[in-house]
Amino acid sequence: MNELGAAIIGCGAISPLHANAILAMKGINLRAVADHDSDKANQAEREYGCYTTVDYQELLERVDIDVVHLCTPHHLHAEMAIEFLHAGKHVLTEKPLAANLPSALRMLEAARHSKGQLGVVFQNRYNDPSIRMKAIIDSGELGHLICMKGIVTWHRSEDYYTSSNWRGHWVSEGGGVLINQTIHTLDLLQWFGGEIASVKGSVTTDVLNNVIEVEDTAHATLLFKNNVRALFYATNAYLVNSPVEMELVFEQGTLLLRRDCLYLYKEGKETMLCEPPSGNGEGKSYWGTGHRRLIQDFYDHIRDGRNFWLSGNEGIKALQLVSDIYTSSSLR
Ligand SMILES: NC(=O)c1ccc[n+]([C@@H]2O[C@H](COP(=O)([O-])OP(=O)(O)OC[C@H]3O[C@@H](n4cnc5c(N)ncnc54)[C@H](O)[C@@H]3O)[C@@H](O)[C@H]2O)c1
Repeated sequence: MNELGAAIIGCGAISPLHANAILAMKGINLRAVADHDSDKANQAEREYGCYTTVDYQELLERVDIDVVHLCTPHHLHAEMAIEFLHAGKHVLTEKPLAANLPSALRMLEAARHSKGQLGVVFQNRYNDPSIRMKAIIDSGELGHLICMKGIVTWHRSEDYYTSSNWRGHWVSEGGGVLINQTIHTLDLLQWFGGEIASVKGSVTTDVLNNVIEVEDTAHATLLFKNNVRALFYATNAYLVNSPVEMELVFEQGTLLLRRDCLYLYKEGKETMLCEPPSGNGEGKSYWGTGHRRLIQDFYDHIRDGRNFWLSGNEGIKALQLVSDIYTSSSLR
């Protein structure tokens, strides 16, 4: 089996999920980590025992690095991805693909001309309930999908924003609850519903308006080309992180994702289709449990020379939706 060398850029909150996934895979070597904050780089060196640097550009020419994981703030994804793609590396970036659509399009262009692949971390597509919902839509076993609902009510404190130099600002985060926390649910809605015909939405800053520039609350109605309608509500202004709720109504039954369980309601009967994931203490439960599965899948595709399905072209769809909601909101 071909050995592959990996590097992680950005050693913040999400990076251990990437490092641990890499360390758990056979034939994949974590060769370097980079963080411009030397304390974080030194801590990563102690933790993973690999080469560390404060200058990620040092890694561009390293022939022993095949795959680069971007765990950096949103506004850095595009420039970093483009540099590594130009250097012929495979790039797996955390969501969102970029802080805005023009930057994302430049990434797609770089990926088109690179021998490396560009993948995006939408790990919730790898959760059991998501896989089951998508399979039921595709099989038609409950008839046509009619409408959907996605509800995300989470808590992000003032401190969450003030302790970070990039969150809460349009230029570095690219938005608020929509682009950061709930882009996963928007991604699932568009994955389930297919091509979108129109979007009407609204964003507001209900609670943290003296703290952040971006929105903490949003709602939207999405109309799909197949006449499916989806309602979406998201906020960071709740006081707890409730599990995401989704409802998918079909001609012959309804699927409900609640408290991480997937239920089917059909002919007056309730059946549990997926239980909550057990034994995965890694990461926060509201991040989902799919990181390891997605990262393994990315490497499997690279090793087999296949195109990774959650590519830049796929990852830009949720960003387009986020952008359309912002545009719609500003037009009211
Ligand atoms: N998939 C998920 O569910 C999920 C969950 C959390 C975060 N994320 C994403 O992961 C990314 C990082 O988020 P986080 O919460 O870990 O942020 P963070 O602020 O905790 O970490 C970011 C790290 O990047 C480093 N960094 C900043 N500029 C750098 C540079 N020029 N060179 C090298 N390192 C640099 C910072 O020092 C910091 O250590 C974001 O895109 C975020 O949306 C995804």
